[in-house]
Amino acid sequence: MTPAIAIEGLIKDFRIPASKARLRAVDNLSLTVERGSIYGLLGPNGSGKSTTIKVVLGLLKASGGTCEVFGKSSEDASARMGVGYLPEAPYFQRFLTGRELLEYFGCLSGLERSGASKRIDQLLEKVGLEDAGDRRVGSYSKGMLQRIGLAQALIADPELLILDEPTAGVDPIGAADITSLIIELKAEGKTILLCSHLLSQVEAICDRVAIMGRGRLLREGTVASLTENAGQDSIRVDGLSKETRNSIESLAKEQGARVSTPSRSLEDLFLELARDQGDES
Ligand SMILES: Nc1ncnc2c1ncn2[C@@H]1O[C@H](COP(=O)(O)OP(=O)(O)OP(=O)(O)O)[C@@H](O)[C@H]1O
Ligand SMILES: [Mg+2]
Repeated sequence: MTPAIAIEGLIKDFRIPASKARLRAVDNLSLTVERGSIYGLLGPNGSGKSTTIKVVLGLLKASGGTCEVFGKSSEDASARMGVGYLPEAPYFQRFLTGRELLEYFGCLSGLERSGASKRIDQLLEKVGLEDAGDRRVGSYSKGMLQRIGLAQALIADPELLILDEPTAGVDPIGAADITSLIIELKAEGKTILLCSHLLSQVEAICDRVAIMGRGRLLREGTVASLTENAGQDSIRVDGLSKETRNSIESLAKEQGARVSTPSRSLEDLFLELARDQGDES
């Protein structure tokens, strides 16, 4: 089956105004997002995540390499059918109410007017805005704007959902709601490409993760494969007495092994990679 997204050797250069120099925002990136999975795209600020997403959406033209969405080139407008997108800094018409905004985006995505009203009610409830649907978007808080943005991305019931920092500015309860919603969407068979700095959320829900740094792919794989410490086995035993732990430790030492308290979260790995890059410069 063709993957939801297939990126091969992607390069994106930006011209620096008033200079002949170029900035390479994405540098030879290759990755595949399988259908029905949640894929996390991580990296420090400016590492090329949003640029990659914009190429996938056909909003930016690649300088090199290829990018396909459901087997079609992302330069082909039809590749965007069935794709929902929440931008990192969504800008919405301030004078529309949340409901009107969803009607507007529903119309743009070709949603039948007859079914739209019910769908909008469901979506407002899904994102926790059922009581604010008739208020103007200009009066929404930052977190509410993210939620209406998420509803907007879902309006046409897309197969692929691209979320660029959906939890930015959302409180912890709201972030947990969004996490549950993403899990729900995956259970419905949708594919989700998620860009987030909320590493605990990414670790909990993503099937695979790519970590970018200065446009390049630093690591890619399942969360488990990225966070496991190679060459180490661990046996977790809770509530050991000090004596028992000491005797296990001396037994391990006799075998040339070492007892430690291993644990590396995705966050630890991310910080290690980001620091390594900082040291290089
Ligand atoms: N339209 C543009 N013109 C020129 N440079 C750009 C443009 N868009 C992005 N860049 C540059 O490309 C690099 C990658 O930016 P990008 O927005 O993709 O990073 P990001 O990983 O999404 O960062 P963040 O976590 O801050 O959202 C940055 O150096 C940025 O300044
Ligand atoms: Mg970004």
